Amino acid sequence: MSGGLRLGRHEVWPPVVLAPMAGITNVGFRRLCREQGGGIYVCEMITTTALVERNPKTLRMIAFGSEERPRSLQLYGTDPETTAAAVRIVVEKDLADHIDLNFGCPVPKVTRRGGGAALPWRRRLFARLVKAAVDAASPAGVPVTVKMRKGIDDDHLTYVEAGLAAQEAGVAWVALHGRTAAQRYSGTADWDAIATLKQALDVPVLGNGDIWEADDALRMVAHTGVDGVVIGRGCLGRPWLFADLHAAFDGRPERRLPTLGEVAMTMRRHAALLVEQFSAGSRTPARGERDGCTDFRKHVAWYLKGFPVGGELRRSLAMIESLAQLDDLLGKLDPAEPFPLGALGQPRGRTNSPGKVFLPDGWLASRDDDSVPEGAELADSGG
Ligand SMILES: Cc1cc2nc3c(=O)[nH]c(=O)nc-3n(C[C@H](O)[C@H](O)[C@H](O)COP(=O)(O)O)c2cc1C
Repeated sequence: MSGGLRLGRHEVWPPVVLAPMAGITNVGFRRLCREQGGGIYVCEMITTTALVERNPKTLRMIAFGSEERPRSLQLYGTDPETTAAAVRIVVEKDLADHIDLNFGCPVPKVTRRGGGAALPWRRRLFARLVKAAVDAASPAGVPVTVKMRKGIDDDHLTYVEAGLAAQEAGVAWVALHGRTAAQRYSGTADWDAIATLKQALDVPVLGNGDIWEADDALRMVAHTGVDGVVIGRGCLGRPWLFADLHAAFDGRPERRLPTLGEVAMTMRRHAALLVEQFSAGSRTPARGERDGCTDFRKHVAWYLKGFPVGGELRRSLAMIESLAQLDDLLGKLDPAEPFPLGALGQPRGRTNSPGKVFLPDGWLASRDDDSVPEGAELADSGG
C-alpha cells in the first residue's frame, strides 16, 4: 500500500482508524491505543441535538488529549439544520479537526425513528444532511467523513448510492461496515460489498468489519483495494493491536503476544487513564477514582479472554471500586502465563443475532421524501 490516508490537511499513517464505540472510545481508552501506534482514533458518538443544546454530559465527552491530532469527533444527527448548527459549534469553538457522521447505528430505538442505519434509505434527506455538514465544516478546512452500513437488509441496500451521494457532497472518505442493520453484529462482514464500494467511488473508501488481527487488515486491503481500515471490537482488551497494525502496514513481521503480567500492566494503565479522565469532571478525587474504576469493569473479561484465570478472581476484578483493589487482584495473576493463542483471530465484544429492523410507519415507501423524521434526534450522546 503506498502513501498515507489523506484527511484534509492531515496525512495519516498507518491508514488505520479506531472505530467510534459508545461507552468505549473515550479519551482514556484512545490514549492507551494511541500509545501503541499511529492512525486516527475517533471519540464516542456525540448527538447533534445534545451539542446544540450544550448538554453538560455531552460537552464533557468532547475531550481530547493535549497532543491528540487529528482530534476526531463523531456526530449523530437526523436533521440537516441541527447538524449544520452542531458542526458550526465544533468549528467555531475549535473542538475537533475531523468530523465523522454516523449512519451505521442499528439500535431499534434509533432506526424505529428513522435515524442511524435507517436514514440513508431516505436518499434526498441523507444527501442534504451530509452536504449541510460539509458546507458548515469546509470554510474552516475541517474534513467530514461518513460511516455507514450496507443498508437496512439484503432487500434494501443503500451503500453504493449513499456513497456516491456523500462523495458528491464533498466528504473526505466513506467508511463501510460490511453488514446490514438487520444483521446487527451477527454473521460475517461482507468484504465483497466493501470492494464494490471501492470500485464505485473516487474518494477514499475505508473498510470495516471483522478485523480481529493485524493480518486481517492486510487481507481486507488485498481483497477490497480499500484505502484504509476501521477497527472496532478487535481492539477490545487488546490496545496493542494498534502496534501490530502499524507493524503490518510498515511491512514488519512483529506481532505482540503479551504475557499475563504484561496484560495486567496494560489493565492497570487503562484503569489509571480512566480514573484520570473521570477525575477531571468530578467533584472529589474519590468520586473520580470510583467512576473510573466502574467504567473499567466492562473491559476486564476482554483483557482476560482465553487466559486461565478463575471465575472468582474474574468476578472480583469486574467489581473493583479503587486502584488499590485492582492492584491487589492483579497481583494474584501469574505474570509468566503466556498469551493464549486460541484467543487469536476470535470475535470479541458484541456478536448478537440478526433481528428485525424497526422503522417508522411507511418508511420503506418514502425513499424520496426528504422531510426530517419525527423524534429521531437523540438527546443523549454516547449511545
Ligand atoms: C460497543 C460498541 C459501540 C459502538 N458504538 C458506535 C458508535 O457510537 N458509532 C458508530 O458509528 N459505530 C459504533 N459501533 C460500531 C463500530 O464502530 C464498528 O462499525 C463495528 O463494531 C464493526 O466493526 P468491527 O467488526 O471491527 O467491530 C459500536 C460498536 C460496538 C461494539
